[in-house]
Amino acid sequence: MKKNSLLFIFLITVCALKLFAQTPVSLNLNTAEAKETISKHIYGHFSEHLGRCIYDGFWIDSTMNVPKHDRIRMDIVEALKKINIPNLRWPGGCFADEYHWRDGIGLRGQRPKMVNTNWGGVTEDNSFGTHEFMELCGLLNCEPYIAGNVGSGTVEEMAKWVEYFNFDGVSPMANLRKQNGHEKPWKVSLWGVGNESWGCGGNMTPEYYSDLFKRYATYARDYPGAPLKKIASGASDWNTSWTEVMMKNVPAGLMWGLSLHYYTLPTGKWGKKGSATVFDEKEYFNTMKNCLGMDEVVKRHAAVMDKYDPQKKVALVVDEWGVWTDVEPGTNPGFLYQQNTMRDALIAGSTLNIFNNHCDRVRVANLAQTVNVLQALILTDKEKMLLTPTYHVFDLYKVHMDAKLIPIRFTSPDYVLGDQNIPAVNASASIDSKGAVHLSLVNLDPSKKITVATALTGIKWSGVQGQIVTSPKFNDYNSFANPDKIRPVKFTGAVKKGDQLNAELPPLSVVMLELK
Ligand code: AHR
Repeated sequence: MKKNSLLFIFLITVCALKLFAQTPVSLNLNTAEAKETISKHIYGHFSEHLGRCIYDGFWIDSTMNVPKHDRIRMDIVEALKKINIPNLRWPGGCFADEYHWRDGIGLRGQRPKMVNTNWGGVTEDNSFGTHEFMELCGLLNCEPYIAGNVGSGTVEEMAKWVEYFNFDGVSPMANLRKQNGHEKPWKVSLWGVGNESWGCGGNMTPEYYSDLFKRYATYARDYPGAPLKKIASGASDWNTSWTEVMMKNVPAGLMWGLSLHYYTLPTGKWGKKGSATVFDEKEYFNTMKNCLGMDEVVKRHAAVMDKYDPQKKVALVVDEWGVWTDVEPGTNPGFLYQQNTMRDALIAGSTLNIFNNHCDRVRVANLAQTVNVLQALILTDKEKMLLTPTYHVFDLYKVHMDAKLIPIRFTSPDYVLGDQNIPAVNASASIDSKGAVHLSLVNLDPSKKITVATALTGIKWSGVQGQIVTSPKFNDYNSFANPDKIRPVKFTGAVKKGDQLNAELPPLSVVMLELK
């Protein structure tokens, strides 16, 4: 080959490499801006009397051959303790507005049965009630978050439940609690006043509900040493008019928090929502687009709240979130059992980044739901149990709990599919009480690795280490035959170059970096 041709090929190759080499995404972080605390309660969970979450999930048959405390399944407890579960919401959901707490106390054999009309029409034997739930929270070392019944319960019923939980003295409800074996009050503080009162919780208008809220909340008393954080039933998705009416009609002192529910639907439709495991790139893209919608939803509700509460006294409580797919073929449609893939891990990582970045307003959040229901952390099949990709993301992200948010400024490259695009990368960062900085990064692009270069202002660090959750395909999952297909592993793609951090995020990855 002639000298000129070789030179020509060389130049073409250099140009092509330059053209396709990705410019690193530059993140801008300054620890001097770390002011807001990321409440640990953003990492909360939800356990409803629904399908196999409580019964055959947390609460099992006494004949089952797994470690148990009474009938509480201890391998689940141990797994949740490992991720420092901060709170657990119970007993619903829609179930909460049909639940009469007195049916779930006293001798188990004598408790009345009921029909769980919301979820599969199954018979509820009430063997898991107030004492069992509080025992579970004690084992988990987490805060209970009780959802009281407004839809079909009375003001008196809710008031008496609070007294039963929280009063330390002589009173009818405190005496009843003692008679049932619990001398001291539990002192619960997170207290929901109804659930989805615009729908399964009573089909109310916001005007009507805001009046009811005031009534129920007035009689849900603060007992000595046990002040309640009362959380009003809130809007769904983009319905800011519910938030507007609540903020306008209810004084901040009565309402500690206002709830918001937002589920990610793969197809965007409630009818055929899409399979949990069988989907193509178009459906993957749509799901992630819908998931990222959480950012705008939170911003819109927060903007309405800012109008009435500029000092941000009222918390936005996103007490139901996650991906909601069609149920697994052959399972009870009322039980909402779905598998959990790498896509779920990306949803969890992205949503938690969104919540961290809005921690000035979002102070509690609850993934729906902990075991065997919707975007679960844990799936069980008789004695077998597996940790889902979502669980592993919560494990990675626990370092953000109660740390100070470091705001990040950056422009993400696009993940493009056809004529549509979404940001490929999302991130959040925090600094903990020991001065360690944690940076969580998500790459949604299924085929491109992305390099980030971060200039860090205001921190002293000598090195970086990390963990990653990733898998080649977005619909890979952990099965009972292969429960560890997706699990966190050491991340070696980050280096310190002078004062700069460089990290290469593989496609479909959730990465947690620690700089100290
Ligand atoms: O999480 C399942 C259900 O979704 C809850 O019971 C209800 O609040 C919501 O509609």
